[in-house]
Amino acid sequence: MALWGGRFTQAADQRFKQLNDSLHFDYRLAEQDIMSSVAWSKALVTVKVLTEAEQQRLEQALGVIMAEVQSDPSAIVNSDAEDIHSWLEQKLIDKVGDLGKKLHTGRSRNDQVATDLKLWCKQQVSQLHHGIVHLQQVLVETAEAHQDAVMPGYTHLQRAQPVTFAHWCLAYVEMLARDASRLQDTLKRLDVSPLGSGALAGTAYPIDREQLAGWLGFASATSNSLDSVSDRDHVLELLFNAAISMVHLSRFAEDLIFFNSGEAAFVELSDRVTSGSSLMPQKKNPDALELIRGKCGRVQGALTGMMMTLKGLPLAYNKDMQEDKEGLFDALDTWMDCLQMAALVLDGIQVKRLRCKEAAEQGYANATELADYLVAKGVPFREAHHIVGEAVMEAIRQGKALEALPLADLQKFSMVIGDDVSPILALQSCLDKRAAKGGVAPQQVAAAIAATKQRLV
Ligand code: ARG
Repeated sequence: MALWGGRFTQAADQRFKQLNDSLHFDYRLAEQDIMSSVAWSKALVTVKVLTEAEQQRLEQALGVIMAEVQSDPSAIVNSDAEDIHSWLEQKLIDKVGDLGKKLHTGRSRNDQVATDLKLWCKQQVSQLHHGIVHLQQVLVETAEAHQDAVMPGYTHLQRAQPVTFAHWCLAYVEMLARDASRLQDTLKRLDVSPLGSGALAGTAYPIDREQLAGWLGFASATSNSLDSVSDRDHVLELLFNAAISMVHLSRFAEDLIFFNSGEAAFVELSDRVTSGSSLMPQKKNPDALELIRGKCGRVQGALTGMMMTLKGLPLAYNKDMQEDKEGLFDALDTWMDCLQMAALVLDGIQVKRLRCKEAAEQGYANATELADYLVAKGVPFREAHHIVGEAVMEAIRQGKALEALPLADLQKFSMVIGDDVSPILALQSCLDKRAAKGGVAPQQVAAAIAATKQRLV
């Protein structure tokens, strides 16, 4: 039975019911609805709506329902209830009779759903934080094992300067660190309880809302009842958190898809995260990574969708707001799945060091070194840049690497070039020289690995 049948004479049209009912997705708030109901029952004792004994009976019944829900969450969705709040109320009445009908005193589904969703979001923040830290751990372990794996670094997808696979891994550790810190920041604003705000104007019972917030593990209670039931900033913030992190993961995926391509062949992905072609027997496709890259799209969509749903919505609660859940659930599930999948991909990755090194040696990735060498000999940088450009053109013409050009050929472009140039052009020297903070020099990378490990424990 609906919670609100009294002033209606006709039953709801089936098609309206289908559009209006939210149980098929908000069943995921069952545990939170039970928790907030227990807290509310305690608050009702403080204002003498319930006796201690009645509250205990309700709490005990809610505990039984909690156990049922935990052992078989799918049992909820088979019900015909409108939403999770209606479902729980009916379930409680089935268990304790008329006493169950008292629980909704002074409460509205508007402050109830706002509270449940915030409780759910808090739990997600902690799970997602763990997901991020786990991926960072796997990245740092991969970095540790590949400190000497030199590979080309790119700008404009053109070989630019040599880096190491470890340095590449650590770049993603940094992005994920920002994602984790954004989550913690979101938590600060999220951690405020709306319960006791009623439908929109506040509850008519003199409830100590700060105490109630504390019972639910919130840091404090909200300050304005209209805002409390209308605020979905935390949904937007979490969607933005997901959206930006998925952008990071999609770039991670794209880098690896390229590294795994036949053209680059820097890495080989494990069979566990790739699939074959139904037609071409030789194929081993990077589907896991393509899905991470692809799923980034739906998460951006969820953020934009929710922004649009809330735009121009008048205060206070409107049914539009029921649209907050599906996109959020999907986006956060997707984010979590992709964090885990990214870790799994790294877990079985094989870096082909020789091939990476060969590629780093091609493409004139040491041209900047030659320019710096000239600068050290007193040539102004802009002039040095031009001289090296000419030398590169000559090397291309001869089909050789810069370091393979005879000294006499190099000297055609600048007489300051001496035979001390050859160690400068070696790959290792390109790495070693970049020893300022954050650079690719081996000791910097080792320090970054140590610092990350310390941060992650
Ligand atoms: N199912 C609703 C939602 O998710 C619960 C709140 C309903 N409130 C109302 N006034 N109809 O938003």
